[in-house]
Amino acid sequence: MRWKILLTDGLKAEGQAILAQQAEVDDRSGISAEELLKAIGEYDAVIVRSRTKITADVLEAAARLKVVGRAGVGVDNIDLEAAKARGVTVVNAPQASTNAVAELALGMMFGLARRLAEADASMKRGEWLKKHLTGTELHGKTLGVVGMGRIGSRVGALAKAIGMRVIGYDPLIPAEEIARRGAEPVAELDDLYAQADVITLHVPLTPQTRHMVNAEAFGKMKRGVFIICAARGGVIDEEALYEALESGQVGGVGLDVFATEPPGATPLVTHPRVIATPHIGAQTKEAQTRVAEDIATEVLAALAGKTLRWRVV
Ligand code: MLT
Repeated sequence: MRWKILLTDGLKAEGQAILAQQAEVDDRSGISAEELLKAIGEYDAVIVRSRTKITADVLEAAARLKVVGRAGVGVDNIDLEAAKARGVTVVNAPQASTNAVAELALGMMFGLARRLAEADASMKRGEWLKKHLTGTELHGKTLGVVGMGRIGSRVGALAKAIGMRVIGYDPLIPAEEIARRGAEPVAELDDLYAQADVITLHVPLTPQTRHMVNAEAFGKMKRGVFIICAARGGVIDEEALYEALESGQVGGVGLDVFATEPPGATPLVTHPRVIATPHIGAQTKEAQTRVAEDIATEVLAALAGKTLRWRVV
């Protein structure tokens, strides 16, 4: 049987080739929410990235839909309850982008510590701010990893290689396992806030994590702390973050994700001590090839009723 599969946010050729062996594939990258509602009824499966929202309304209109494939990790753009209720399987590709996201987080740490964005911008204005652009070294500093899953653990391992002390907090992972993954476990988030010179966030967006990093949390951190978020917009309260940057409580921020994407040139994005990137954590050639292969294989397995590696619901 040849399935009909819709791509709404693109998929690298390697993944499309796998799908094409068993399915008719329609690449409608950038499809609007209205067009998606009209089109979805024709398809057995849809593969999305973070842009496309698979809402209860979309699922309601999806008479033939059996599988939603998320070409990436986060599934906050998919109404999982509605999918479950309609018997639609949701699968993702949780391993493929681990290293890419971890390397971006580390890159942001270096960028903040050595003020690379400010230095580059000043050079492009024709200035030579050598004395003004004093940075700090990461070696010997403490990195607090919030969320010790695949990506958080990888960031910790990379940070240890440059001589950072790594502490980890994750309420879902036992202390011994956090230690096995290479970080010193801390029992409370407040302990991490009190000790860390750099904090990197690797948690999904859920009702529990929405605005978990807020004004109260900033108040518990070391003055001048650097914060990195390449996880999900919404985990940080952006208004409180702006205030904390302005007061100097937060020394710098690396943001790859935003509550609203794209955010536009907001005061937060344009703040001189913010390094902002357009949700490119997983956007490497290597990661996107692996994501495409993994999700294509998994979606076909789900359509064929085979055992799945990464079933979400
Ligand atoms: C993810 O959750 O894997 C990322 O957000 C991927 C993406 O850029 O869509």
